[in-house]
Amino acid sequence: MSASQSERRQRGKFITFEGIDGAGKSSHIAGAAALVRGRGLNVLTTREPGGTALGEKLRELLLHEAMHLETEALLMFAARREHLERVIEPALACGDWVICDRFSDATYAYQSGGRGLDKAKFAQLERWVHGHLQPDLTLLFDLPSSIASQRIAAQARQLDRFEQERAEFHERVRRAYLERAAAAPQRIHCIDASQAPDIIKTLLQEAIVEHCL
Ligand code: TYD
Repeated sequence: MSASQSERRQRGKFITFEGIDGAGKSSHIAGAAALVRGRGLNVLTTREPGGTALGEKLRELLLHEAMHLETEALLMFAARREHLERVIEPALACGDWVICDRFSDATYAYQSGGRGLDKAKFAQLERWVHGHLQPDLTLLFDLPSSIASQRIAAQARQLDRFEQERAEFHERVRRAYLERAAAAPQRIHCIDASQAPDIIKTLLQEAIVEHCL
């Protein structure tokens, strides 16, 4: 085995979870991490925006403070830059796996699909911030926005700026996610999130085993 082959083997895998608000992805992250740990591997779970002390402060602003749409997009990438530098890259480099609740696909889906910003700008930012790195696997939880909205409405809690958006916004976000999945089928694995939790768990475990283990 060449030195570069052995380096590739040692590097951890990077898995991201995506989907519209209310698709239910967050509740499956712990199960995915348990699967990877069960194989004797170290795994770190984290989230965006957030994942670092500064990133969590930016998250608070992004979720609750009114701001210009471009400020919102730029802050998503600023938080990501910090997250990559301090958390994601070091973990992958030492062989740990990273499971991240949202990454750049969310910026394309929400800030371009949802908010209508030009996605060419995000391609530039993406190259700048993580041109060298893409997730090994992205699990996209797909759900009609009408069902997702009902799930969110059933939760008795204060909704953030994105959750408060109208159903049309979430439908545009969903379409943008599906477009990205169609353009990168080898990376983005789509899961029908209207199915029972047990079935979803099985499907996502199969995808992780097939793509990453
Ligand atoms: P979310 O991941 O849904 O967290 P929770 O499960 O705690 O509600 O919340 C993050 C929100 O941020 C979500 O509504 C999508 C939004 N977001 C963007 O708009 N762009 C991005 O690039 C990222 C990472 C998130």
